[in-house]
Amino acid sequence: MCLASCAERDSCLGAKGVLRGRCGRGVEVESWEEGSGWTRYRRSCVHTITLSHPYSSFKTVQQRSITAMDRPDYTDNTATEQKVERPEVPRPPPRRKRIIVAMTGATGSILGVKTLLALRRLNVETHLVMSKWAEATLKHETDYTGAAVRALADHAHSHHDMAAPIASGSFRVDGMVVVPCSMKTLAAVAAGHCDDLVARAADVVLKERRRLVLVARECPLSGVHIDNMARVTRSGAVVFPPVMAFYHRPGTVEDLVDHAVGRMLDLFDLETGDFERWNGFQRD
Ligand SMILES: Cc1cc2nc3c(=O)[nH]c(=O)nc-3n(C[C@H](O)[C@H](O)[C@H](O)COP(=O)(O)O)c2cc1C
Repeated sequence: MCLASCAERDSCLGAKGVLRGRCGRGVEVESWEEGSGWTRYRRSCVHTITLSHPYSSFKTVQQRSITAMDRPDYTDNTATEQKVERPEVPRPPPRRKRIIVAMTGATGSILGVKTLLALRRLNVETHLVMSKWAEATLKHETDYTGAAVRALADHAHSHHDMAAPIASGSFRVDGMVVVPCSMKTLAAVAAGHCDDLVARAADVVLKERRRLVLVARECPLSGVHIDNMARVTRSGAVVFPPVMAFYHRPGTVEDLVDHAVGRMLDLFDLETGDFERWNGFQRD
């Protein structure tokens, strides 16, 4: 047996607990903290050692010089030693599904509100960003205030806040929906022009190859709008114009909104249960 210095001494500084692992020959190896960092292995060997830290995601493969093994009389005594009892490794709890909801200044702010309500009911963690014009159309079209809508989300971010977690790809999300999505925001996403948090978060979702749904609302559409829709589609986004369907015989505006929100959330594998699906022509 040999006591080897830890090759990862600097990155291990301050770590607490026990490092366990197996060397390239399958021998159990265990190290412990000594002084200010990981310095020695209680039961060690001179092979390639793969160690994982039980209290963090720290993983390292340590290549060490094969000194003892080079000797012709070398015998691997550790191979027959008893296995070390592994401590229970604490695992992070499973994460709730997490979706970014952005609302912009296109008409149809009720679609954004209903999306937030549905996600809340489905226990999905929501991160809301509202543009300045989203607040203006919300006030004009509904009885909701900006504050009331923000209260429906788990987290609300200012559209100016480029330091928000959702501005980074390292913050894991399951997708983003821009509902409703103005032609201005569509153009910003198509051009990768991240001048506010809505455009930046959408740009990040695209680059991370996550689900981006743009509920783009304008009528009629110009060539510029159609080109921008084609560009974002080629980059992986789904353009979802909130077009009405009538096969479920909607009786109210709410029926139309619920149908649109339900179909939109289908794209995230979420079932709102708020609308009737097409099931073929039914015989009377
Ligand atoms: C009541 C109202 C309705 C609007 N509806 C639309 C719309 O349906 N589609 C659109 O692209 N812009 C619409 N606009 C214009 C946008 O609000 C405007 O282009 C704004 O700059 C969009 O910025 P934003 O994407 O940052 O919210 C509307 C504006 C108002 C005041």
